[in-house]
Amino acid sequence: MKILGIETSCDETAAAVVEDGTKMLSNEIASQVEIHARYGGIVPEVASRQHTLSIIPIIRAAMRKADVGWDDLSAIAVTHGPGLAGSLLTGVNAAKAIALARNLPLVGVNHLEGHMYANWLTGNELKFPLICLIVSGGHSDLVLMKGHGDYTLLGRTRDDAAGEAFDKAARLLGLGYPGGPVIQKAAESGKANIPLPKSWIKGTNDFSFSGIKSSLLRLVNENKDINKNDFAASFQAAVVDVLVTKTIDVAQEYNVCQILLAGGVAANKPLRETLTARSPFPVIIPPFILCTDNAAMIAACGYFRFRAGHTSDMALDVIPNLKLAAV
Ligand code: KG4
Ligand code: ZN
Repeated sequence: MKILGIETSCDETAAAVVEDGTKMLSNEIASQVEIHARYGGIVPEVASRQHTLSIIPIIRAAMRKADVGWDDLSAIAVTHGPGLAGSLLTGVNAAKAIALARNLPLVGVNHLEGHMYANWLTGNELKFPLICLIVSGGHSDLVLMKGHGDYTLLGRTRDDAAGEAFDKAARLLGLGYPGGPVIQKAAESGKANIPLPKSWIKGTNDFSFSGIKSSLLRLVNENKDINKNDFAASFQAAVVDVLVTKTIDVAQEYNVCQILLAGGVAANKPLRETLTARSPFPVIIPPFILCTDNAAMIAACGYFRFRAGHTSDMALDVIPNLKLAAV
């Protein structure tokens, strides 16, 4: 069963074709990162205009790469939230138009659920129950998954998301945008020798990253001659330690079979390495290109939703603050 996935929730226009939820036939991404870099962050209006320019060529490219025609597809899966309203609208309207014109089933997908399903494209056998740490620009969630569509949110951030913290720290240090990759790069030449407060919020599985950020701001303001690389390394080490420790703790509490990593921050090398090294459970992590926003993960998730009988109709709407919920 071949599914066309469409993803436009933020600043990547993406389309992909996936077979049986696990085999990626194509994965096309038009990144807007250079357009937004000059503003130091995503400008929503610019993002949605760019999506409208890229969406048709990117869908065509994904179909061509996969060597499929409309008649080969079983359904169209599209992200309908969470994300930027204007950006989401482009993808949802394109998906609806194709579904209507080609008489194909439409499947609305939650972007966060999509991130988790990037793990189904890794070729690994996944076993429930599992814990998934979703760390992106907008979320830091610890999710218990007992089966397809069966999610329990065990922990979340109380303030900044992990990716947001990376982006803000990079801005504070004048390292540029997007924050994750530039902090990681700077950290490679630095030492994690600056003590920064780690927020454990004992007794809960929740995260908090605003304290590390405020402390970084104070230290940067107090020390004009700072070694940016050391600050980047210290910040990254603190965030990674909290994420890894809490994820392993919760995996132990629920005695899961596996730990999955998902979302843009899952592209962080020290996070990947530390979690793999410290976890007593098998750890599955998607390749870098499937950690940040892409449409293959949406098509993969769409397949499992479709197989379970969950389709959407033409009333499918964008929901910018869509929550992860069991289906
Ligand atoms: O999942 P994603 O592509 O978009 C959202 O759904 O938000 O995540 C984007 C976030 C950004 O905050 C970015 O700085 C972060 O992922 N990120 C990283 C790395 N690559 C991207 N954070 C840490 N290390 C990285 N290598
Ligand atoms: Zn994302």
